[in-house]
Amino acid sequence: MSKLLLVEDDPALQFTVQTALEAEGYEVDAVSTTGEAIERLRDSAYPIVVSDIYIDERTGLDVLDAARRKDPRCAVILMTGRGTIETTVAATRGGVFDYIAKPFELDVMIDAVERAKASRESGGEEEEAVEEELPETELIGNTPAMVEIYKKVARAAPTDATVVIEGETGTGKEVVARMVHRFSRRANQPFVPVDCASIAPSLLESELFGAVRGAYTGADRDRMGVFEAANHGTVLLDEIGDIEHNFQLALLRFLEKGEIRPVGASRAREVDVRVVAATNRDLQRLVDENKFRSDLWWRLNTVRIILPPLRDRRSDIPTLARFFANKYNARYSRDVKLMDSGVKALQEYTWPGNVRQLQHLIERLTVLADRIDAEAVNEALTIMEARDKTVDTLADAEEEQIRRVLAATGGNKSKAAQLLGIERKTLYRKLERMKL
Ligand SMILES: Nc1ncnc2c1ncn2[C@@H]1O[C@H](COP(=O)(O)OP(=O)(O)OP(=O)(O)O)[C@@H](O)[C@H]1O
Ligand SMILES: [Mg+2]
Repeated sequence: MSKLLLVEDDPALQFTVQTALEAEGYEVDAVSTTGEAIERLRDSAYPIVVSDIYIDERTGLDVLDAARRKDPRCAVILMTGRGTIETTVAATRGGVFDYIAKPFELDVMIDAVERAKASRESGGEEEEAVEEELPETELIGNTPAMVEIYKKVARAAPTDATVVIEGETGTGKEVVARMVHRFSRRANQPFVPVDCASIAPSLLESELFGAVRGAYTGADRDRMGVFEAANHGTVLLDEIGDIEHNFQLALLRFLEKGEIRPVGASRAREVDVRVVAATNRDLQRLVDENKFRSDLWWRLNTVRIILPPLRDRRSDIPTLARFFANKYNARYSRDVKLMDSGVKALQEYTWPGNVRQLQHLIERLTVLADRIDAEAVNEALTIMEARDKTVDTLADAEEEQIRRVLAATGGNKSKAAQLLGIERKTLYRKLERMKL
């Protein structure tokens, strides 16, 4: 029979978990304070510990620490309803075996315990516990999907693995990329985001790899590229789905060799950068459509993180709203209260612009409203949507005009571009977007 220590201050949950694990044949010692837990761990070693995180003045991280001090091979499973990326990272560093988001299905818990037992029997690896101050979090959310993401970040960050972050606009891709950097050994080195979509394809190469003097007209001195400037740090290649085929190959070579060759240079030099890539396009689909090299895709996605849209994690909306309300109240010296009806209204919306849209809405309301209630939220949402519509209408008008001019020139694109007063290149881009 396997002995197990259960630390949970909620009596109902403690009883449920204890009963379930006993039914699976475990001998469960259940306690409800960190003090009792640490005392038990002083007296006897437990191969498996299951602990809540937020218990009393001390936390599950202290239990984790005590358990691993007593027996470095102890498998600790932490459960939490308020997990943050910081607690997840600290738990991972402390050698946690698994991390479970509350509420959970009992099967999930039993499965974790069984895996812990199996790993004990096969002899799990050892790791040193590190203690440090927990910083305030920037990444809000504790729905299971977010906790899974924290776990992935916590595991991937200390390695140099390339990470691809996918998700709709405003879901937090850049924030997650910064976390990968912050929790890596490169944290004190530069983090440099590059928006690949906003740099002309012809300039991307010199922007990233650098260029030597005289490499092209106007290059009157050597120019250091981003990869070299970020040496020993992390580069975020944002909107990676938008880079051209030629450059995809150059990037692949760089990732394989860890060498850059500045434009016009005769020799390559070594650089040490970790690459994180982000995109709001479906890269797998771009690969299937032959728009993105599959070899580059495979090279990039060692770790793949897919951020859920906000509408799929509505239970995080209250915490996010409170977080942003506090932030903007402080910034604008305001004291606008977030009301229950306001939170409810926020939870009912679909958030096409995800967290960024929610953030902007709350910012606007802390400045303009007396209180954030259902009425204020709905009014602000109506204004936001009307503004987005106007933008749509403008784009529609542009498409309409392009179609008309193309028809008039009998499909002659150079002529059409001339008539429209735009460069041919620009017209091509617009046509591609219009799927013409
Ligand atoms: N989980 C989160 N907790 C707190 N703030 C968040 C979270 N996710 C996103 N944000 C905030 O929302 C805004 C948008 O996030 P971010 O820039 O990371 O989005 P993105 O996915 O890179 O979007 P895009 O594809 O448009 O570039 C930022 O101000 C960020 O701080
Ligand atoms: Mg972004």
